Amino acid sequence: MRSKISVIGAGFVGSTLVQRLAERDYADVVMFDIVPNMPQGKALDIRQAGPVLGYDSLVTGTNDYTDTASSDIVVITSGFPRKPGMTRDDLVKKNQEVITQVTEQVVKHSPNSIIIMVTNPLDAMAQLALHISGFPRERVIGMAGVLDTARFRTFIAQEVGASVRDVQAYVLGGHGDTMVPLSRLCTVAGVPIDKLISAERIEQIVQRARDGGAEIVKLLGNGSAYFAPSASILQMVDSILLDKKMILPCAVYLQGEYDIRNLFVGVPAQLGAKGLEKVIEVELTAGEQTLLQKSADAVKELVQVMGI
Ligand code: APR
Repeated sequence: MRSKISVIGAGFVGSTLVQRLAERDYADVVMFDIVPNMPQGKALDIRQAGPVLGYDSLVTGTNDYTDTASSDIVVITSGFPRKPGMTRDDLVKKNQEVITQVTEQVVKHSPNSIIIMVTNPLDAMAQLALHISGFPRERVIGMAGVLDTARFRTFIAQEVGASVRDVQAYVLGGHGDTMVPLSRLCTVAGVPIDKLISAERIEQIVQRARDGGAEIVKLLGNGSAYFAPSASILQMVDSILLDKKMILPCAVYLQGEYDIRNLFVGVPAQLGAKGLEKVIEVELTAGEQTLLQKSADAVKELVQVMGI
């Protein structure tokens, strides 16, 4: 039997992800939205690309949660995106209501699923989904680090004129202004970047990666990034569905790792068929640990705003 993936929210991120998943041809995909007819229309369009591109994925659009029943993976992208000038944190109250309602439906219809949270503010929404679902931490994972790291890798590759494939990097911490790019461990084909780029320039690149989402929000004028976010989700789905056990920076519920307890923070995590299979603890310098703790404090503030 083919695997089943449901994507909640058929907006820019959700529908682009569904297109990418369909092209993978390894699962049937259900796309849910509250807007009548819209997910059905997009699903039909994506299915009609199948004969041209050669995939058989059954893509269904729906406004009825019963169609999402027994999903293996549920990706949640529903909510309100950031508007120019708005921080991710401004979104918290607005999206709390949406995520509470969505998570309740996911639990009801797909009690054994693995949830990948995408809605911002990411770390807080992942924490909310864990709280509402009652799922073990292995089955609620947030997408942020893959995207933040991809942004960082893009800028490093561009700076040194290398292939993005040769740039290895990790971005830890919360998704947002407090993210912690580990430039110390960033390499280009094994060569540490401080041998290739000046410290001052590295700092500028770190800052650009930190502001990566906002830069795109400003340019678009309406809405936020979706090509790189959907690609980042796809990599996480690949690792889970194909049990690849990739180590990817993800928002996971820490229980003492990195001296942080009961909070979602971005760290390297191994993803496989069981969802989160292992939290990888990288040895941090005192400075990095302080930044990570600051990042965790920012997430904690949002969790308090939600009152959970
Ligand atoms: N249930 C299901 N879908 C909902 C609900 C709900 N309660 N409320 C809103 N939606 C749907 C909207 O109808 C819309 O189609 O969520 C979709 C969100 O899509 P977009 O507005 O296009 O937003 P998008 O760019 O896809 O971003 C989605 O991902 O990266 C994050 O910050 C971003 O939180 C945002 C999310």
